[in-house]
Amino acid sequence: MILKPFMREGIMPLPVSFISTVSADGVRNIAPYSCIMPVLRPLDLICFASAEKRDTLKNIRDTGEFVINLPGADFENKVIPTARMSAPEVDEFEAAGLAEKPSHTIKAPGIMGCYAWMECRLEKEFKEEKYSLVMGKVLRLEVADGVLDDTLHLDPMAADPLMMTGSKQGMHFCTIRETKGFEPFSAMFPSGVDPVTAAG
Ligand SMILES: Cc1cc2nc3c(=O)[nH]c(=O)nc-3n(C[C@H](O)[C@H](O)[C@H](O)COP(=O)(O)O)c2cc1C
Repeated sequence: MILKPFMREGIMPLPVSFISTVSADGVRNIAPYSCIMPVLRPLDLICFASAEKRDTLKNIRDTGEFVINLPGADFENKVIPTARMSAPEVDEFEAAGLAEKPSHTIKAPGIMGCYAWMECRLEKEFKEEKYSLVMGKVLRLEVADGVLDDTLHLDPMAADPLMMTGSKQGMHFCTIRETKGFEPFSAMFPSGVDPVTAAG
């Protein structure tokens, strides 16, 4: 079956993150963002795509900082309350009934109850007419107790990450229910030596 190009999310599960920011006037804002990706490894950069008309984008331009919060599936009922268009003066923590988790390196707070928090400083904006790719430098990465195993690998069953697939009708929320095999990074290299690990 051939799909329309914009139907790519129907075949590509995406994470649901919440980006929290504070406006120049001090108003707290939250918005769900799924168009998000890390920039290679072992770089400390993360990138997301934002439509131009977003309070989130304006706040990041004004303050240069944001938190990427990773929620569990129990946050599904917070997606619409934070995704609704609301005036910039509305405190979206209050509107969505979410408590703040103070950040350590920036003023923008994280969201209590998520399983991970990336405190980010704006590194670079790749601006197009209707959207921007926003690249952030992760200044501090915190993970809730109990979601990492002994090898510092995320236990998807414990984190229960909120994800989504898209259809013509809307967003279908999902999570990870099963883990499969494992390969070390070194398996990609003929010498068996991962240059990233070798470089320390
Ligand atoms: C699950 C989900 C994922 C979303 N992902 C994005 C995204 O990656 N980029 C974007 O610009 N908008 C995205 N949106 C839309 C924004 O969250 C929505 O427009 C929100 O009202 C923006 O809030 P703000 O104006 O306070 O920033 C998403 C919405 C939902 C429900």
